[in-house]
Amino acid sequence: MPNPFTLGVIPPRAAFCNRKTELNELSSHARNKANVVVFSPRRYGKTSLIKKLQRNLMREKYLTIYNDFFMITSENDVAHRMARSIYNVLHQHESLLKKGARYLKTLKTFRPVFKPSADKGVVLSVEPVSANISGIEVLDNILEEFGEFIRKQTSFAGVHIVFDEFQEITDLKGSPIEGVLRNHIQEHDASYFFVGSRRRILLDIFNNKSRPFYQSAIMFSMNALPSRELTNFLQNQFKKGGKRCSTQLAEKIAEMTARYPYYVQALAYHVFEVSGPLIKAKDIEYAFEKLLASERYGYEGIVQDLTSSQMALLKALANRPTSKIMSTEYMQAYRLSIGGIQYARKKLEDLDLIENFDGLWRVVDPVFARWITGF
Ligand SMILES: Nc1ncnc2c1ncn2[C@@H]1O[C@H](COP(=O)(O)OP(=O)(O)OP(=O)(O)O)[C@@H](O)[C@H]1O
Ligand SMILES: [Mg+2]
Repeated sequence: MPNPFTLGVIPPRAAFCNRKTELNELSSHARNKANVVVFSPRRYGKTSLIKKLQRNLMREKYLTIYNDFFMITSENDVAHRMARSIYNVLHQHESLLKKGARYLKTLKTFRPVFKPSADKGVVLSVEPVSANISGIEVLDNILEEFGEFIRKQTSFAGVHIVFDEFQEITDLKGSPIEGVLRNHIQEHDASYFFVGSRRRILLDIFNNKSRPFYQSAIMFSMNALPSRELTNFLQNQFKKGGKRCSTQLAEKIAEMTARYPYYVQALAYHVFEVSGPLIKAKDIEYAFEKLLASERYGYEGIVQDLTSSQMALLKALANRPTSKIMSTEYMQAYRLSIGGIQYARKKLEDLDLIENFDGLWRVVDPVFARWITGF
């Protein structure tokens, strides 16, 4: 039997653990045309959840558009990605749009082009109609046209747009992009979701008085997976793969991964690989070693970019989370200096490597924390 656990974004019809309350609440915001910021640590299941939400909305005849801002390079790049995802979605809905095809003519900045692709047959791409305007003007135009499209369209029950990894717009230093996006979005009769994991950077966009998006969206934080549902999910998945896992051992997997969605799947994946028909405690220990061995490369990439004072603080918090990071006792125990801590703390928070959780400073990723304590 193939391994029933997944290591990537959950595929469309794959098993999903819970998140029912989250889905209900988010669907309601989408129907109310509210804008929402969805945030959590990395690999918590934001993209999987949002894709599931959009699939549900599509069934309710919503037009759903998903944009990924991962590694955007310019305003022009943002405009391109938006135009491409708009055309792609409209193309999928072609039959529904037949009688309303004239709406498509409102989009003038880019034209759709079909290009042959080695692995996907023909793909829909976009080309700018004029080469002589700046990136920010191109973005301004496409947003204007999209707003007009939303106003005129009658084929869909509503429009839902996602910007995944939204915090990456802050990498466009000195760009007026926040203001331009905000101006248009507030006029659009649609629901926008801003998704991201660099929480400090993302939240500052919406909670800093001097920024255009200030207080323009509902803040929605995602939590770890709930215990009982997670234990059931793990047992069911093992069963689907033809194996049996006791409640006690399913709870152990949940506990070792702090119910952190990605690690739950990754640990369970390795457990499935190393076990016989009945899961044993030693399989979990061995699988955890396998998990650490495979995550190690990513962790090494993270720490190699840190300075020695950032590393010292990270190690200290991995060994002992604390509410008193600046206390003389803590600083002496881990050889930290006041100046070093202040700068390191901000940088580590910006990278979302550490967080203040209910007053306690700790490393965000529990498995990374365990790895750090080992050297
Ligand atoms: N509800 C869930 N049930 C089971 N597994 C889940 C669930 N949500 C997420 N996962 C697992 O967690 C992993 C990360 O999911 P996803 O990529 O959606 O997270 P993300 O928060 O978007 O991550 P990133 O911050 O890296 O973009 C995936 O391997 C997925 O299988
Ligand atoms: Mg994601």
